[in-house]
Amino acid sequence: MKKTVICPGSFDPVTLGHLDIITRAANMFDKVVVAVLVNSGKTPSFSTQERIELLSESLNNLKNVEITSFDGLLADYCREHGIDAIVKGLRAVSDFDYEFQMAITNKKLNPSLETIFLTADADSMYLSSSMVREVCKMGGDISNFVPACVHDRIVEKIKNKKTGVI
Ligand code: PNS
Repeated sequence: MKKTVICPGSFDPVTLGHLDIITRAANMFDKVVVAVLVNSGKTPSFSTQERIELLSESLNNLKNVEITSFDGLLADYCREHGIDAIVKGLRAVSDFDYEFQMAITNKKLNPSLETIFLTADADSMYLSSSMVREVCKMGGDISNFVPACVHDRIVEKIKNKKTGVI
């Protein structure tokens, strides 16, 4: 039977760490749905449309990956869309508590839904979207942290945001 998994997240913005996990999931499963959370309670730096566009550009070489957005409970989205499992990256021990809590909550809400953790690549262990935003805002070089094809767009947006252009 074909297996469809989901890589959910804020992706605000996409990093090389996200790309690593999604690429490895795409090599393991028939289809990967990359789902951008629309409303997390915090205001994202990039709009949902922008986050989808950055992901689409970064992942357009992977033919079994679909990019979408979702709102509400992930467990419900998975039930409604025939998703077999959630794939998440684990960077460090600090991720574990929260991810463990989410995995069990999702399983309680949707008992057929498994969560699979992939260990982050050694080069991505330290990476996070918030760190990328912070470094970029302060004028640092983020070329080691984000996909090259969307680097300029991310920098432009963060710089414009800082100066109040958008
Ligand atoms: O990239 P993030 O911010 O760590 O992703 C978190 C995400 C989107 C996976 C998580 O916040 C989520 O699934 N939100 C949807 C709401 C939900 O289902 N909450 C209950 C499960 S904890």
